[in-house]
Amino acid sequence: MSSEKTNQSWGGRFSEPVDAFVARFTASVDFDKRLYRHDILGSQAHARMLTQAAVLSEAERDAIVAGLDEIRREIEAGTFEWRVDLEDVHMNIEARLTERLGVVGKKLHTGRSRNDQVATDIRLWLRDEIDAILVELNRLQAGLLQLAETEADTIMPGFTHLQTAQPVTFGHHLLAWFEMLSRDHERLVDCRKRVNRMPLGSAALAGTTYPIQRQVTCELLGFEAIGGNSLDGVSDRDFAIEFCAAASLAMMHLSRFSEELVLWTSAQFQFIDLPDRFCTGSSIMPQKKNPDVPELVRGKTGRVFGALTGLLTLMKGQPLAYNKDNQEDKEPLFDAADTLRDSLRAFADMVPAIKPKREIMREAARRGFSTATDLADYLVRKGLPFRDCHEIVGHAVKYGVDSGKDLAEMSLDELRRFSDQIEQDVFAVLTLEGSVNARDHIGGTAPAQVRAAVKRGRELLAKR
Ligand code: ARG
Repeated sequence: MSSEKTNQSWGGRFSEPVDAFVARFTASVDFDKRLYRHDILGSQAHARMLTQAAVLSEAERDAIVAGLDEIRREIEAGTFEWRVDLEDVHMNIEARLTERLGVVGKKLHTGRSRNDQVATDIRLWLRDEIDAILVELNRLQAGLLQLAETEADTIMPGFTHLQTAQPVTFGHHLLAWFEMLSRDHERLVDCRKRVNRMPLGSAALAGTTYPIQRQVTCELLGFEAIGGNSLDGVSDRDFAIEFCAAASLAMMHLSRFSEELVLWTSAQFQFIDLPDRFCTGSSIMPQKKNPDVPELVRGKTGRVFGALTGLLTLMKGQPLAYNKDNQEDKEPLFDAADTLRDSLRAFADMVPAIKPKREIMREAARRGFSTATDLADYLVRKGLPFRDCHEIVGHAVKYGVDSGKDLAEMSLDELRRFSDQIEQDVFAVLTLEGSVNARDHIGGTAPAQVRAAVKRGRELLAKR
């Protein structure tokens, strides 16, 4: 049977063409075509290496490299015809190269397989994605530092169990998000090291009989190291799983952050305003201004967790080496990277535009007995054991609930009903400023500490 009727790349041993539905079912070109740029880079490096290894002539190499450049231009101009019958991005590009160059095009695939080719392409692609994600992450962190600095003195209630706990500064609260994102940054940078190892040269599974020089392709492609085992190189996708795990954690953080923004913009909290450009209205309720961006980020987090679970499940039953199962790695990986990148971008744009409503935050902190712990600590300093102080303050709070007064609103006589150790100097302790200023140690909420943490944060970003 002629090669027109069967797939030209592997049709030799087949006696009938592949079923039309099976061809569509097994094809990946619809989604893996987005690897085209990295596929071409990998092929050009491979061709250059083959010339150094005296497998291709210099003229053949030059024709291949230039031909691939042309194909990239065709793809980017939208004139390239993607064919499902050619299965995937690799065979589409190679077929076009052969169409353009004839016999020389057919030589490109010497000493390699689609198995090491695709593993190389994904790693090159993911490396670039991680770099782009890190840029957005950096931008978001810089925005948080900026806002934290402006809001170093702004007082809000800190919560545990979503009940008013102790006053904190808004700057301090924002810097909690900064810390989480710093760890996300570290994880992605660390993950990138393992992404950046080269499987090219593994060929189908066992290596190749050609005198390939893997250091050459490694250097040309900017990989940090050469994969040490060909079976492993073509088969494992742990680097993609690791990326999805790091992405899941980052999305989990963004989702928690989103949850707070949604709460804070509600009529019940009114702690912040989000600019209109990050919100949408309702088609029926004219008063609505919905915090769509944080809601959507919170919702999209599930996709990334799904990608992680999907990829773990994809790998768990696979014997060595490459199996077609691995074609299923791409869509979840692409989606996880897109989702994280877009979510970070939206947050990086939105966070500097957050407008805190300082009076409302402060009023919320003032209500809710947020300085009760400060009163207990005050009594400890007067020499009472902490447990007794806890009980004394408990009674004072009960009185405050019944009489509708916060601790700072009670007179000295009222307060002394609960302990004769309480004196005039208690009022400095019961103010919101007194409370936050007293937590003046590394990692504490005092405005001075927020400013110091912003400085440390800026130094960290400058070192990246
Ligand atoms: N489209 C395939 C994938 O995504 C490329 C590798 C195919 N290799 C093979 N032996 N069929 O994994």
